[in-house]
Amino acid sequence: MLRRTAPPNLMVVFGASGDLAKRKLLPALFHLFRQDLLHEGFTVLGYARTEMSDDEFRNQIGEALREHQEAEHTTAFDNVAWENFAPRLFYQPGGYDDLASFQNLATRVAELDQETPTQQNHLFYLATPPNVFEPVTSLLKEVGLSNHSNGAWTRLIVEKPFGHDLESAQTLNEHLLKVFREEQVYRIDHYLGKETVQNILVFRFGNGIFEPIWNRNYVDHVQITVAESLGVGSRGGYYDKSGAIRDMVQNHVMQLVALTAMEPPVAYDAESVRNQKVNVLRSVRPIDPLEVNNWVVRAQYGRGKVHGSEIPGYLQTEGIAPTSTTETYLAWKLEIDNWRWNGVPFYVRTGKALPTKVTEINVMFRRPPLMYFDSRETRRQQVRNVVTLRIQPDESIILSFDAKRPGPQLDVEQVNMDFTYSRAFGGTDISDAYERLLLDAMLGDSTLFIRRDETELAWDRVTNVLEGWAIQEEILRRRGKVLQLPQYAAGTWGPLESDDLLAHDSHYWRNPELNGKG
Ligand code: BG6
Repeated sequence: MLRRTAPPNLMVVFGASGDLAKRKLLPALFHLFRQDLLHEGFTVLGYARTEMSDDEFRNQIGEALREHQEAEHTTAFDNVAWENFAPRLFYQPGGYDDLASFQNLATRVAELDQETPTQQNHLFYLATPPNVFEPVTSLLKEVGLSNHSNGAWTRLIVEKPFGHDLESAQTLNEHLLKVFREEQVYRIDHYLGKETVQNILVFRFGNGIFEPIWNRNYVDHVQITVAESLGVGSRGGYYDKSGAIRDMVQNHVMQLVALTAMEPPVAYDAESVRNQKVNVLRSVRPIDPLEVNNWVVRAQYGRGKVHGSEIPGYLQTEGIAPTSTTETYLAWKLEIDNWRWNGVPFYVRTGKALPTKVTEINVMFRRPPLMYFDSRETRRQQVRNVVTLRIQPDESIILSFDAKRPGPQLDVEQVNMDFTYSRAFGGTDISDAYERLLLDAMLGDSTLFIRRDETELAWDRVTNVLEGWAIQEEILRRRGKVLQLPQYAAGTWGPLESDDLLAHDSHYWRNPELNGKG
C-alpha cells in the first residue's frame, strides 16, 4: 500500500482562534506532521478577528496542543516535533466582511507562497460561525484568492452547520458554486473520517458472506443509535438553535443510514460512492408533515445522573431559555423505498445525556420460520441474529446468535462472536477523524466529503419533519397553548414515546451494554 502523504500547500484557517481550530484542526495537523504525512512545504495561516502576532498565535496553539495531549494521551508532549512544527504557523488578523482585510490576506498569502515552498496550492478552511460563510467566500473571490495559478489547486473545506433547512442549504450551495466549482468544495462530516465508519463499506463490500443477506429477504429491521452521555454543557447558545435534528441527524445519522443501506458502488471512488449514497437518500420516504408524530419522537432531558454525576435538566442549563422547545433527543422511523429495503424499517435515535456515549448500528435479522428452542428470550419472541457495527467506543463488530447452554436440558442463550479493533490491531492508534479528512482534502480525494446533492436531500427529508413541528406549534399557539416536549431523566435511554414508536411494530430498542465509558 502506498503511503499517502500530502502535497505541499498553504492552509488558511478562518476562525483560527476558535474552539474547533484549537481542539480539532491543529491537533490533527500536528499529529499528521509527527507521522511525517505532511510535506515540508506545508504552512498554516490562521485568520481571525483577534489581533495577534505570529508568535502569540504559536504560543496559543502550543498551549492548546499540550492540553489536548494531556486530555487524550498518556505519552509526553513531543517538544521536538513542536519546535519544528511551530515555525510553519502564521497568523493574520482581519474582519470577515471587509475588503481591506482580505486584500491584506491576499498579500500575506502571496508572501507566504514566496517564502515557503507551498507550490501555491491553497486550502481554505471555514471554521467560523456560518453567518460569515458567504462574505468570506465572496471576498476570497474579490481579491482573487478563489483562483489558482497553472498547475496549482485551490480548495475550500466547509464545516457544519451547512444551512438550517433545505432552502438555506440550497442558497448556500448556490452561493459557494458561484465562487468555486463543486470539485473544489469539501463539505465535512467528521463521522466519515472515523475508521469504523469507513469500515462499514469494507465489511459489506470487502467480504462475500454478508452482502447476500443484507436485504429485505433476511433483515427484519435496522437500528442506529448515536448516544452521548454529556449534556449540552457550555454549548447551549449554539445547540438551542439546532437541536438534535440539525446537530446530529441531518448529517451524521443520515450518513450512517446511507452507508448501511447503499448499493455496491461501481468503483471505490468519490463519484461512485457518493452516487450510491445519494440513491439511498432519495429513496428515504418523505414523510407527510401532518403525520410527523407517527414517525418521529422528540424529547428533552430533565435533571438526572449520568455515570454517577448529577447534571441539570436542559431547561435549567445556562444560556437556555426555560421555555425552549429544542429537542435534545430524537428517534425516527425511516422507510427506504427501494428494492433492497422495502418494508424494512430503519429506526434511528440520537440524544444528549443518555446513559453512555456509544454509536452503533444493529442489523436485526429475521427469525427462523419455527422457533423450536425454548428460552426465556425466545418465549418473549425477541431473540434475533444481530450484526452490530460498534462505531465507538470499543470499536468492534459483533455477531449475536443462539447457542445451547451446556447441560442436560436444551437451554438456549444468545452469545456473541466479536471482532474488536483493539484486540485485532492492538497498539495501533485509531487516528482522529479530522486527520484522515484533512489529509484527503490535501490529496484531492473527496470520497469522504458530502456532495451538494447529498446535503440537500438529507435537508429535504429533515425539513419535512421541521415543517410538521412548525404546524404543531402553530396549532397549539392558536389554541393559546404552548408546546411541551416529552422529558426523559438524564442518564436514561430516552422517553417512553421512543419505546412506543418501536413497540407499535412489535420491536424494541436494543440498548448497548453499559461499559462505564463515556
Ligand atoms: C458534533 C455535534 O457534530 O458531533 C456535537 O455538533 C456532538 O453536538 C459531536 O457532540 C459528536 O461527535 P463524536 O465524534 O464525539 O461522536
